[in-house]
Amino acid sequence: MQENINNIKESLVRDLESVNKPQDIVDLKAKYVGKSGCITELTKNMRDLSIEEKKTVGMLVNEVKNYANDLISKKEEEINNAILNEKLNKESIDITLPSKKIKRGSLHPMTRMVEEFEDLFVSMGFTVFEGPELESDENCFQKLNIPKGHPARDAQDTFYLKDEVENFLLRSQTSTAQVRAMEANEEKGPIRIVCPGKVYRRDEDATHSHQFMQIEGLVIDKNISMADLKGTLEVMMKRILGEKTQVRFRPSFFPFTEPSVEVDVTCFKCGGKGCSLCKQTGWIEVLGAGMVHPDVLTMSGYDPKVYQGFAFGTGIDRMAMFKYNIPDIRTIYGNDIRFIEQFDRKDED
Ligand code: DAH
Repeated sequence: MQENINNIKESLVRDLESVNKPQDIVDLKAKYVGKSGCITELTKNMRDLSIEEKKTVGMLVNEVKNYANDLISKKEEEINNAILNEKLNKESIDITLPSKKIKRGSLHPMTRMVEEFEDLFVSMGFTVFEGPELESDENCFQKLNIPKGHPARDAQDTFYLKDEVENFLLRSQTSTAQVRAMEANEEKGPIRIVCPGKVYRRDEDATHSHQFMQIEGLVIDKNISMADLKGTLEVMMKRILGEKTQVRFRPSFFPFTEPSVEVDVTCFKCGGKGCSLCKQTGWIEVLGAGMVHPDVLTMSGYDPKVYQGFAFGTGIDRMAMFKYNIPDIRTIYGNDIRFIEQFDRKDED
C-alpha cells in the first residue's frame, strides 16, 4: 500500500511538470482524484479489510488525496494567474489618450417653444390638454359653428380621409380641442386649458407649411369677459416675445367666437418703427381670439346664460420664426441637424 502511494506521489509530481493549460488540470484531476482516479482506486477493496486495516488505509488514502489536491490546485492557480497576466499585458489601456467627445443633443426649437408656452400657462393655473391629429368633421368644423358648405371652410378644407373614414380629416386647427374639452367635462364646469399640437393645411411657401404647430387656449367660467382675454394675451406675448412687446386688438371674424379679434404685436425687428418685416406698419399679426360663441357653448352642453368663455389660437412656428429669426418655416421641418444644433442652449447664453 505504502509503495503504491509513493508511486502515485512520484507520478503526480512528474505529471505536474508538463502541465501548462487549464485542460491539463482537468485531465490531471480525473487521473488522480476523480471518480475513477488512481487514488480513489486505492479504496476499491476496502470492503474486505478488517476495521483496523480500514482505519489505516483510510488515513493513508486521505493523506495522499489532500497531498494531490493541494499540489493540483496550486498548479491551477499558477496557470490561471499566468493566463490573466498575459491578458492584462495584451489589453493594456493607454489612459493618457484623449477621450472621444460625446456629442450633446439639443432640443428642437419647436419643442422649446411648446415647453415655454406650457410652463407659462401651467404657472397661470391652466392644464395641458391634448387632442388627436386625426379629427372628425364634426369636431373640426360643425361644433365650432362651421356647418357643411360654410365659406369659412374654404381655407381649411384640406386633408380628408376617404372611404370608411369619410368624415375624418387631419385637423386644420387646434380649436378642435375646445369641443373635446367641453364635451369631456361631465359636470359642465369651469375649464382652463391650453392645447399645443400639429395642424395641417394646404399651404407651402416660406412662411406657410402644410404642417405646422398651433397652441389653443380655452377658458370657460362664470363672469368671463374680454378683459380676461386681453390680460391673458398681454402676459403671454410679453413673456414669450419680451417685456417691451405691445399688444393690439383688432375686430375680426371667426365663426366660433363673438366678438372676435385679431391680435397684433409690435414688430420684434424694428420695435414698432416700421421695417420690411412688418411692411412698414410697426405691427405683426400673431393670433386669433374671441369670446366663445354662445352656439358653440350650447352645442357642447354648456348654458351660455350661465357660462362664458374666451379662446385663442396662435401659430407656434411663426412665433419661433420671430423669436429665433428663422427666415423659412420649411427649415423647421427639414430635420437638418445643422439647423437644430444652432438652438443648443441659445436661451441660456
Ligand atoms: N383656429 C383659428 C385659426 O386656425 C385661430 C383661432 C381664432 C382660435 C379664434 C381660437 C379663436 O380659439 O377663438 O386660424
